[in-house]
This record gives sequence, structure tokens and C-alpha cells, in this order.
Amino acid sequence: MNKAFDIAIESLASPGATAPAPSTSTSSPAASPHPRHPNAAPGKSFYLETFGCQMNVHDSEKVSGVLLGRGYRAVESPAEADLVLYNTCSIREKAAQKVFARLGDWKTTSQNKIIGVLGCVAQQEGEEIFERAPWVSLVCGSASYRRLPDLVAELESGGRRVTGLDLDTEETFETEITRRDNPFRAYLTIIEGCDYSCAYCVVPLTRGPERSRPSGSILSEVRRLAAAGYTEIQLLGQTVNSYRDPSAPKLNFVDLLYAVAAVPGIRRVRFTTSHPNDFTREIVQAIDSTPALCDHIHLPVQSGSTPILRAMRRTYTREEYLEKIAWIRAARRPISLTTDIIIGFPGETEIDFAGSLSLLDALQCDGVFSFKYSPRPNTPARDMPDAIPEEEKSRRLAILQEHQRLIQIARNDLLVGSQFEVLVDARHAGRDQWAGRTTSNRVVNFTSPRVNLLGEYVQVRIARAGPNCLVGEHLV
Ligand code: 5AD
Ligand code: SF4
Repeated sequence: MNKAFDIAIESLASPGATAPAPSTSTSSPAASPHPRHPNAAPGKSFYLETFGCQMNVHDSEKVSGVLLGRGYRAVESPAEADLVLYNTCSIREKAAQKVFARLGDWKTTSQNKIIGVLGCVAQQEGEEIFERAPWVSLVCGSASYRRLPDLVAELESGGRRVTGLDLDTEETFETEITRRDNPFRAYLTIIEGCDYSCAYCVVPLTRGPERSRPSGSILSEVRRLAAAGYTEIQLLGQTVNSYRDPSAPKLNFVDLLYAVAAVPGIRRVRFTTSHPNDFTREIVQAIDSTPALCDHIHLPVQSGSTPILRAMRRTYTREEYLEKIAWIRAARRPISLTTDIIIGFPGETEIDFAGSLSLLDALQCDGVFSFKYSPRPNTPARDMPDAIPEEEKSRRLAILQEHQRLIQIARNDLLVGSQFEVLVDARHAGRDQWAGRTTSNRVVNFTSPRVNLLGEYVQVRIARAGPNCLVGEHLV
């Protein structure tokens, strides 16, 4: 059973927060005052810095909502804050190191502040964080965020060190107040944790087992978001397409896609990240038949070599992955594809690496997130033989990125002269350009004679293309 926090009202904007000001009536979430928690901390302020993935960004929005509901004010610099929180990422070593560098800043200056570590590093390092940085007083992993209000209350009433590190929870982190930082695209977690066990990955250890959120609660949030003016929804999960409704309607992922896309006012629905193992033809059919489902799929492959995929415990072969790509390419409307690749996994030979390069040729992705393999604590890959030296990983990464850059230049060149609908989400004042995304998630920068376009859907003709964005002009 999912129990909500004890805050009585949905509020989507935050007085005093750093969110960009909503600027059009069609895209502006309604602001409403934050009701105070009985143990509220009037006048106290917090600063929250987020590292890592979209799930972390959205968790931070929810954490901010909880703190605002307790009477905290958001401030823009840690120096001004009574409570300084870092929502951390430990997917690769560099990300985890960054957090300890930040904590180091407080070694001699943390008096009168509460310093807290949230997220994956908190879960992974646990109470050891207190040893390494004794000035930290709160350590809480994402699976325990529902306890955050109590943990903060404990600190407010004089507690010195508190932790929330349980992973054995059935619950998802639902809040009644979420401070949404993006006034145009609302993120919504539908499934938390991960039940796969990829040999390189810390996520099952830091985010715990898979928990899906009841469909009724998801759909009522989507309806509230639509009523508040949001037109684009992005459904989130580490393996979003493994979604299984724990409540009576028993919707599967595709049923949920249709239901979210049918909510009046919602014009675009995205979802990320999909796992190839749970990727079905029905997902492609749903996109094909439902204009509101965006024509973009992010489907991480991780390697183009079947032996490496097996060593990674990815549960599919190169050929099985390509079979699913063939369904996507056979769709009636073009669907943009992006992927993730890890290079330099232990034992990756030149032949395996060449397999990843040739896979990129076969996939023709519009974007690839590529990473050097980074050994992580308590993962099976950490102790695998035949580690690839760091310089060799760097060499392979540079080759792969250049290979993909050329693919993207060629693909984007083909789009010059075509016309796209763009949801405008930014203005580059210096360049006198607007920016936004197509339904296929391509970034478009463009000029327009109009004065205010933020939050609008406009038609843009593409005049030039680079590897990572398109440049065009507004068709007024
Ligand atoms: N080393 C390098 N990349 C990793 N990823 C996950 N774990 C590691 C690791 N240990 C990458 C995968 C995943 C993305 C979010 O991060 O490609 O899809
Ligand atoms: Fe990590 Fe694999 Fe789960 Fe993705 S599917 S979060 S890579 S364990």
C-alpha cells in the first residue's frame, strides 16, 4: 500500500525556488501556497545539488517538495543554507568522487549547518560517510526517501547523525508536493529499482529491487499535471518498460502508455529507460497508432559483441537486439533511436570492439551515450580478469565517438529542408535564438520574429544541421 506524505495539497511551483519562471498560460503550472507541516521549520533554508541521471533529478524535485512543505525555503547557494543536501550518483567512479570533493568543501566550515548525502553514494557507502566526512549528519538512500521527513525532524530536534538505508521496501517514493523545475516537461517515476543484475552495474545495489507504482496513482498525477498546464510527460524508470501494475487494473506497460496518452491536454509522452529484454512489438505498435506517444526510443545495448553481452549478463545477444531494432525500423512513422554503449569491459578484444563499431553502423542512432567501463564496488565485473588499461579505454572511446559523430552528421544532413513541430523550452538571448525539441527528441535552435514562444508548439523549417542539433527558422 502506498501511503502519501502528510502534506495535504498538490503544488507544482515553489515560492523562492530557482525554477525558471513559467511564461505562458498554456505551459504554466499553477502556483499555490505550501501548507506547513506540524513540525515545520519556519525560516530555515535548504540547498540541494543533484548529480547523475534523470531519476535523480526527479527525486530531487520530490525531496524539494517535501522540504518546502515543512516550511524550508530553497536558496541558490550552499553558503546561505541551513540544510545542504547532495543527491548523489555512483554509476561510475568519477561521479562518486565528485561528491566527496564537494563534501571536502565543508571540512572546516560546516558549523551551524546540516550536511546530508542522499542517493546512490549514500546507499553504497552508508555510515562510512560519517567516518570519511564526520561533519555529515544525514545519509539516506533513495529507497528510504519516504522516511526523509522523519529523519529531517530528528535532526531538527537535536539528533546528531541519522541514516535511512533500508532497501527491503515494497514502496515507491510518492509525495503530494513535487517542486517541478521544468515548467514544460513533467517527469514522473512509474517504476523504481531494478531486478536485472548486469555485471557492471551498481543500480540494483543502490536503488533496490523493482517496485512499480499503482496505475491509478500515476494517472491521477498525469491528470493533475495536465490541469496545471503541462503538455509533455516523461515516464521514468531504470527499466521503465518492465512496468507491472501492482493494483487491480493490472495494466502492463503498453496499457499504461495508451492510458497516459489519452489524458486530455497531454500532447507528448516519452519514456526512459527501456530494457531490450522487455521491449515488445506492442510498444512499437502503440507509438505507430498514437500520435501523442513520442517517436523516440532509448534502448541501451551496451556492447555489439555477443560474448561481451553474455559476460555483462545482459540477457540478449547482438542478433536478438537487432531483431527488436528491425521492428522499430519497420514502423509506419520514423522512430528515432538512441542507445548507451560501454567500452573496455573486462576481456573486450579488438574484435569485440569492432563489433560495437559495426553495430553503430547497423543501428543508425540519432545519439549514443558512450562510457569507459568503470569498476564499481560489490559488482561481479569488478573481479573479472583481463581488465583493459585506462589508455586503451580512452583510445577506443575516442574512436567510437568519432565514428558515431560521422553517422549523426550524415543523418542530420538528410533533415535539412524538412519541417518539424518543436516544443519551445529555452531562449538563447545572446544568439537571438529559441530552442526546443521535436517529438523525436532532436534539439532544434531557431530564429523567430515572435517575441514570446516559451511553452508553445511551433513549426520550424531546418536550414542547417550539426551532429547534435538542427538549426532552422520559425514558419509563422
Ligand atoms: N561503467 C561504465 N558505464 C556504466 N553504466 C552503468 N554502469 C557502468 C559502469 N560500471 C552506463 C550504462 C548505462 C548508463 C546509464 O551508464 O551504459 O546504460
Ligand atoms: Fe543497471 Fe542493468 Fe538494471 Fe540497467 S538493467 S539499471 S544497467 S542492472
